Amino acid sequence: MKTLILYTTLYGATKACAEELAGLLGEADLLAVSKKARPDLSAYDGVIVGSPVYMNALPKPMKQFLDAYEFDLLEKKLGIFLCCSNAKRFEKYLPYCFSFDLLEKAEVKECFGGILEEDKLRFWHRMITKAIRKQASAPPPEAVILHENIKKFAALWKGEPYFPPEPEPAPASPAEEAGGSSQTEEGGSSSPTGGEGA
Ligand SMILES: Cc1cc2nc3c(=O)[nH]c(=O)nc-3n(C[C@H](O)[C@H](O)[C@H](O)COP(=O)(O)O)c2cc1C
Repeated sequence: MKTLILYTTLYGATKACAEELAGLLGEADLLAVSKKARPDLSAYDGVIVGSPVYMNALPKPMKQFLDAYEFDLLEKKLGIFLCCSNAKRFEKYLPYCFSFDLLEKAEVKECFGGILEEDKLRFWHRMITKAIRKQASAPPPEAVILHENIKKFAALWKGEPYFPPEPEPAPASPAEEAGGSSQTEEGGSSSPTGGEGA
């Protein structure tokens, strides 16, 4: 199946994610959406649309592209990914960013996280970011690329099973590290079943 990944990016995070995804899919073309781009989608069975989120919305070139190409996209196997610093809000961003029909049509939807390097931002973006940070009572979530979500997307897109990685084992307690014993100070066992008694 021939796939086209259409993306837009301001600072490069979405491009990097699109490239990583293309590498995992094997057979995929990449195209940056711009005002001038008029891609011919007829050569592709599947299209993946990837975009960053800015102020809860898509950048204008992507919005315009989706408006112009909605009917063509609805004819394809469709996938959607977003790059944003607040991955927890991914589900909330989707309806702000895509039409109901596109969301219904998309077989795979994932958040790939993001990158936010304040010192590299354009003046106004830096001002906005600072203002948001000042307003928020909690520190902003750390922007990181969610590589595992890219792997998951690739597997689902190819119709392959996806196995999430095993969770990291909990770090050893200082007592365990010091003595290698699982005895607690009270003399009981610190194993999950030891304390209560089976
Ligand atoms: C001015 C500005 C507004 C942003 N707005 C949001 C937002 O509403 N929600 C969010 O989760 N991330 C937001 N971000 C973070 C970007 O989505 C994130 O940095 C993303 O990785 C940028 O992708 P790009 O490098 O492909 O442009 C914002 C960043 C900037 C600079």
